[in-house]
Amino acid sequence: MSFTTPQTLKTLKQQGQKFSCVTSYDATFSALVNDANIDVILVGDSLGMVLQGQSSTLPVSMEEMIYHTVCVARGNQSALLMADMPFMSNNTLEDTLHNAGQLMQAGAHIVKLEGEEWLSDAIVELGRRGIPVCAHLGLTPQSVNKLGGYKVQGKVDEDAERIVNAAIELEAAGADMLLLECVPTALARRVTNAVNVPVVGIGAGNVTDGQVLVMHDLLGITKGHKPKFVKNFMAESSSILAAFETYDRQVKDGSFPAPEHSFGE
Ligand code: KIV
Repeated sequence: MSFTTPQTLKTLKQQGQKFSCVTSYDATFSALVNDANIDVILVGDSLGMVLQGQSSTLPVSMEEMIYHTVCVARGNQSALLMADMPFMSNNTLEDTLHNAGQLMQAGAHIVKLEGEEWLSDAIVELGRRGIPVCAHLGLTPQSVNKLGGYKVQGKVDEDAERIVNAAIELEAAGADMLLLECVPTALARRVTNAVNVPVVGIGAGNVTDGQVLVMHDLLGITKGHKPKFVKNFMAESSSILAAFETYDRQVKDGSFPAPEHSFGE
């Protein structure tokens, strides 16, 4: 069995080739994601919303993340398996190391943490223990209450500057990957060009090195409000596998996300 690694994604970035990522929470869908040649699976804490019907990701527990990571790992034969550290699972360095270790033992290849440069110390320590990290910047859904809603971030110069500097600091601390959510396309371009590690975007325009979508959004089965950056790939596909394949192809040829899925320049 051979898996995509953060190094594979870095090489793709150097070659100017894009990569695809989608969330998955179980073994069956993960195997289908593999069949579609999608590079990265994210066991996102979005499972709180799309599986559990919660109104945010905050109630998701470590036990639930471990359970879904185990399920995904059983179905996954080829993608890089990234697992979210849920809300309050990284309160202390000790908690961070323990909880990240549990996700790795459950089958994750890399853990994702939401935050800015304050994550640096944790990233250094995780790196020392052989745990790769993706730092999630921009709109960080675990901070929805502090941010005052699911809003585009980095629209004013000061915030944009802070996000670019955080990206550079997190790479210097050893982050293996960055995820940029809901920022203007011009800011996403600045961040992507400022770092050597792969940057995966959602609501960040087609200028990042890769794209990620929540599976339920990609399949057009999410109820309620649909964010601007979402596209229903089932609308142009005859099966779930075909929808995954179309998504993968459109990410890799740069046609998704289109300007109508992005937040200006
Ligand atoms: O939890 C999740 O699915 C995520 C994506 C929205 C990027 O973090």
